[in-house]
Amino acid sequence: MAKPRTLDISPPINRWMNDTLDRHALRKSVDILAIRIPPPKTGVFIKSHQLKSCIMDLPRIRTVVKDDSYSDDSRLVLLKVTDEADLEPAEARFLKEQGGSLTKHTLQLDYSYWTAEDILKAVLPECLCETPPTGFAITGHIAHLNLNKEYLPYKHLIGAVVLDKNNAIRTVVNKIDSIDTQFRFFKMELLAGEPDYLVEHHESNCRFTFDFTEVYWNSRLHHEHERLVDLFDPADVIVDVFAGVGPFAVPAGRKGCAVLANDLNPNSAKYLRQNIINNKVDDVVRARCEDGRDVIRNAMATVAEQPFPPYTGPRLTRTEERRRHKEVKDNRVPPASPAVELPARSRITQFVMNLPDTAIEFLDAFRGVLSPTQPWGQKLQEIYGIAMPMIHCYCFTRELELENARSDISQRVAAKLGHTIEDFDLHLVRSVAPNKDMYCISFRLPRQVALNN
Ligand SMILES: C[S@@+](CC[C@H](N)C(=O)[O-])C[C@H]1O[C@@H](n2cnc3c(N)ncnc32)[C@H](O)[C@@H]1O
Repeated sequence: MAKPRTLDISPPINRWMNDTLDRHALRKSVDILAIRIPPPKTGVFIKSHQLKSCIMDLPRIRTVVKDDSYSDDSRLVLLKVTDEADLEPAEARFLKEQGGSLTKHTLQLDYSYWTAEDILKAVLPECLCETPPTGFAITGHIAHLNLNKEYLPYKHLIGAVVLDKNNAIRTVVNKIDSIDTQFRFFKMELLAGEPDYLVEHHESNCRFTFDFTEVYWNSRLHHEHERLVDLFDPADVIVDVFAGVGPFAVPAGRKGCAVLANDLNPNSAKYLRQNIINNKVDDVVRARCEDGRDVIRNAMATVAEQPFPPYTGPRLTRTEERRRHKEVKDNRVPPASPAVELPARSRITQFVMNLPDTAIEFLDAFRGVLSPTQPWGQKLQEIYGIAMPMIHCYCFTRELELENARSDISQRVAAKLGHTIEDFDLHLVRSVAPNKDMYCISFRLPRQVALNN
């Protein structure tokens, strides 16, 4: 049985750095043995089963290198062994039979070799090394850390390592204080890299531009944005009450949906408008900057007064358009049939309310939205008949058992609507803290609530 071979290639311990990273202190020379061979014999050695357990197989270290100490073309096959006495008899025998000569070789490892985790384990105080903070969320070119307070004395050092070890990152920030209570963006401090907070972030095949210090964005909601947009029918008319910079509204528009997208933060509304234009959905997505309560109250009349254009098919990217054009030209698909005259879209089918802290509080604004006493009330009743829109309302709960969460959330919703909701779907979005979960409750607006005076 061959002995297990281990080389210590961990970075040298340097716990004196405090908050300034000294990359030059992280160097290491490791003396090993190598087999000097002429190039044609390389395969014989590296493929031999006799040498399998002693040949170098460490990550990012080449097994065969040129032998610089000789002017001929000799190669060195590196071994994970430091002393000839460590070779097994079968290994030594194979070397002798094949005419391989042993020589010493020194591996030179430096800062560029090790991972962020290796480095932080070598430079942070020992008590902080067990799980070094190498995780972060990515927004465009920004890595966003949320450091626990014990790591704060080393925040710039940690930021520098994260920046060095992630090619796509140009800016590293740490979240400070709690989130802005109304508009949900957070204060951040620069740890490393450029003080550039204007990001371009790609999600759901759309391009989003925004200033990360001024608006809400959470890359961890990517799957939730996709899940909901997947549920929509392309002919839907959607009101996104708390739209942010458009992660539901813009992809829904690309699908063909008509969207009234609103955010009270003027900066969110500004970037929302820009993202609508950049993603070429300005004919079907309209931006607003109003309080969500007013939007809910007025949306049905607004859309009835100014209907959206009819659904005409999904937006194609330029590449998709070119591909489609070619397929038609090659007779692989039939040309588009002449457009059927569809009616303009004047009936809202979905409301999205992603403000989990307080969205449920806004639900009472639905009371009486179709009341005959409202301006447009009679007309709206004709438009809606019995087809009430769906509401997708995000919320937090401290009830961690699904059944308890169901009753907690549905009771809070019912209290605000003034009506029980029996038929609803509850989707766990994510755990935001050990004792706090985020959910999306989806239900149809009860007609009695909409007609309530
Ligand atoms: C949690 S963020 C969600 C943004 C976006 N829908 C998303 O999924 O990323 C909530 C948004 O609601 C906006 N907001 C807060 N209070 C509001 C209000 N009273 N009316 C309308 N928008 C509001 C905030 O500015 C923020 O952009």
